[in-house]
Parts: sequence; structure tokens; C-alpha cells
Amino acid sequence: MAFSDPHSQVWEPLVGAAWRAWASAYAPYSGFRVGAALLRADGSIVPGCNVENASYPVSQCAERTAVCAAVSQGMAVGDLLALAVVTEAGELTPPCGACRQVLAEFAGELPILLANRTDRSLCDLRDLLPQAFTGRHLAR
Ligand code: THU
Repeated sequence: MAFSDPHSQVWEPLVGAAWRAWASAYAPYSGFRVGAALLRADGSIVPGCNVENASYPVSQCAERTAVCAAVSQGMAVGDLLALAVVTEAGELTPPCGACRQVLAEFAGELPILLANRTDRSLCDLRDLLPQAFTGRHLAR
């Protein structure tokens, strides 16, 4: 499947799910809605949105919401195949550092499509978080 092409049709179900999640974002403090959707190896798509809190640091990013939902549904290491992240920001929004680390727990190479209403760009987790710290480094 052509996840290496940001304009490939294979991204459409993920982008659609990410926009639907975006509409559900709970972002009363920042006003910055984020939608995400990930693809699992079994073909299922799991959405996530950002969920803010009056205690600001407790807020959860969209990407981590999606990962936590997917793990709750049985996603295992290596099952994470692709991720789409959408916002209405003029500049495309990449996953924050904390989300990169959480994603790296479940995938090595991971195509990530960044999209707004008009633009798309493709990146890979390997480039966003080179030399990631993983469970491999805990081996004694
Ligand atoms: N946010 C995400 O959902 N994902 C990111 O990777 C970057 C930031 C959210 C967190 C917060 O609710 C809002 O965007 C502003 O930082």
C-alpha cells in the first residue's frame, strides 16, 4: 500500500477519521483542536482527539488518545502501521515530543501524514525521533 505517497487514496479513511475526531476535540483552553487516526495491522482505524483539562499539564494530545484507545482494543507492539494528524493551523502540525516517544513504543518506521484543510505532508517517526529510547535499551 502506498503510504509513502501523501496523496494516495490509502490515506483517505485515516484522514476522514482524524477530521471526525478533530470535531470532537475538547480544547476550551487553547482553542487548538487536533485530530488523529491510526491504522492497525488488522485494518482497523482508531481515532483520537486532544482532551484538555483545567489543570493544564493533565491535558492529553490527540495522538496519545488514539494510541491509548488502540491499546485498550488490543493493539500490540508492531501493530501500528500509519498515523494521520489534522489541524486547521496554517502550518502543518507534527506530533509533540511526548507523543513521538509514545508512538516509538509501538512502531519503528511509521509513516505520519500531517494535514490541514488544504495541505499535506508526509514524514516518518524515524526522522521525527532518531535514536529513540526504547525497551531495548533497558535490557541488562
Ligand atoms: N496537541 C496535540 O493534540 N498533539 C500534538 O502533538 C501537539 C499538541 C494539543 C495539546 C493541546 O490540547 C493543544 O494541542 C495545544 O497545545
